[in-house]
Amino acid sequence: MIPIARPQMGEEEKERVWDAMGSGLLAQGPRVRELEEEFAAFIGAGHAVATSSGTTALHLALLGYGIGPGDEVITVPFTFIASANSVLYTGARPVLVDIDERDFTIDVELIEAAITDRTKAIMPVSLYGQPADMPAVSAIAERHGLAVVEDACQAHGAAVGRRMCGTWGAGTFSFYPTKNMTTGEGGMLTTDDGELAERVRLLREHGMKVRYHHDVVGYNFRMTDIAAAIGLAQLPKLPAANERRRAIAARYDVELRGVITPWVRPGVTHVYHQYTIRVNERDAFAEKLRERGVGSAIYYPIPVHRQKPFLALGYGSETVPVTDLVTAQVLSIPVHPSLSDDEVAKVIDAVNMTADELGALHAGAEAGAAGR
Ligand SMILES: Cc1ncc(COP(=O)(O)O)c(C=O)c1O
Repeated sequence: MIPIARPQMGEEEKERVWDAMGSGLLAQGPRVRELEEEFAAFIGAGHAVATSSGTTALHLALLGYGIGPGDEVITVPFTFIASANSVLYTGARPVLVDIDERDFTIDVELIEAAITDRTKAIMPVSLYGQPADMPAVSAIAERHGLAVVEDACQAHGAAVGRRMCGTWGAGTFSFYPTKNMTTGEGGMLTTDDGELAERVRLLREHGMKVRYHHDVVGYNFRMTDIAAAIGLAQLPKLPAANERRRAIAARYDVELRGVITPWVRPGVTHVYHQYTIRVNERDAFAEKLRERGVGSAIYYPIPVHRQKPFLALGYGSETVPVTDLVTAQVLSIPVHPSLSDDEVAKVIDAVNMTADELGALHAGAEAGAAGR
């Protein structure tokens, strides 16, 4: 079976982890600081703060902007639950705005109608490795005096022009094992705002600048030096890994038939954390791919507003037709950099044969959004 993800661990990772273990510095230490510096330089952000996960990076970004009870944060229902949950953790309310059918990221045309006098931030999600329309989101945020917290947890190295994800307001990344780079578990917050970075560092460490002197109620959201050691080996390999993902995606774009392949916003660099197609009879499609030896996954089978905790909070009646439509159609197929050319060919054959059997899905349904 060709798996949907295959984390790459080499000799460099082993050596660096071994060194970290031998150093006696196992919790947050010099390797975490080194990874922060290298990641900030890679992204082109002034500051990077390492965290225990992408979720805690999101949570800290919101707290760092002072978001709390009574506030609203605009985000999307078509995402991993952590985006919306991080808003709930602060006591604020996520306001769910539909996505653009073409690229699955926030529909910027709908944002202004969702702004109220309680809105404090916009949290676009750069999903599957494609940047949300960050220049447009950022212009809206500026007009209304709102913070931008980009959920770039799937977008390491993605860019709009030459500007990378994570350089608008606060950006957050996940280093979960399936991501384009990993530390096992881990995350990173990036920003050009030095004061925000300072507040976030304080909150990450129980509000402590001087040992056992606590200025605010904080958290333990630190990354370990063992995790950072893995990250230091992974980061230099990220550009080549992303290029391999993009080369596989380019082949899929040309050779897949009978499915809707990803649309890429002009001028952006998509890093294909996932290659997500839209297909007819999605669940049967996935089963047939499995029978043909090709793994696939649905990101995400239930949108945020239909998840149990959100239903309990009164969500569920939002009008988000694009989210509801694509939730029933999306299927991610293997695009990880360790795929051999033969495996890529096998995926293409399996998808094309399955689309022949189950009927084609055409891009016609996209016309509404694409015509704007
Ligand atoms: C879009 C998105 N947001 C947030 C997260 C949370 O990251 P983590 O799993 O590292 O907490 C993830 C990763 O799983 C994600 O894909």
